[in-house]
Amino acid sequence: MVNQGINIAVFISGRGSNLQAIIRGCRDKKIKGRVKVVISNRRDAGGIEIAKKHGIAVFVYEKKKFSHKRYQQLTDFLKSVDIDIIALAGYLELIPPVLIRQFENRIINIHPAPLPDFGGKGMYGMKVHQKVLESNIKYTGPTVHLVDGQYDHGKVLDHYPVEIFPDDTPQLLANRVILKEHQLYVDVLSKISTGKMIL
Ligand code: GRF
Repeated sequence: MVNQGINIAVFISGRGSNLQAIIRGCRDKKIKGRVKVVISNRRDAGGIEIAKKHGIAVFVYEKKKFSHKRYQQLTDFLKSVDIDIIALAGYLELIPPVLIRQFENRIINIHPAPLPDFGGKGMYGMKVHQKVLESNIKYTGPTVHLVDGQYDHGKVLDHYPVEIFPDDTPQLLANRVILKEHQLYVDVLSKISTGKMIL
């Protein structure tokens, strides 16, 4: 996969700013590869427009339509289009075993805080930054990790520190962390795509 670059599938449920960063990272040749498809489990995810604007195929796999066969179909589809890496970018659904088995050590996620301390079921959005502020730690920052069968749980691949200031609010912190997320995700995918990081 390293010679021609990697085929990336980005999974989203919302805004898609990390998707945007990954697309840009590919365009700027920091990442050796391309976003081949975008998968959304929500029809109204903002990231869908970003993908379309860049001519990237988008597939919406809503829960109610695909029931238990949904992830089997999705897995088959991703294999049929030669996906090397699945990058979760704000995807708010647990990845089931069928997909993890078929893409073992090839699914990664970004989380906006240190793991395992600030992750797990229900830990997304402002709740994460709120909990970070309540804990009185000095540094937070995004974490990229391998995806296993539990929320925010697999092996940590990389983390960028972000300093916490005394007058921070969850929103202020989120604003600074998201910028570092974009850098970190591109950096990790860059290393994977050039063989500098082996999963
Ligand atoms: C990011 O904070 C990411 O760490 C988390 O969900 C958020 C997605 O943001 N998993 P965006 O949709 O990429 O803007």
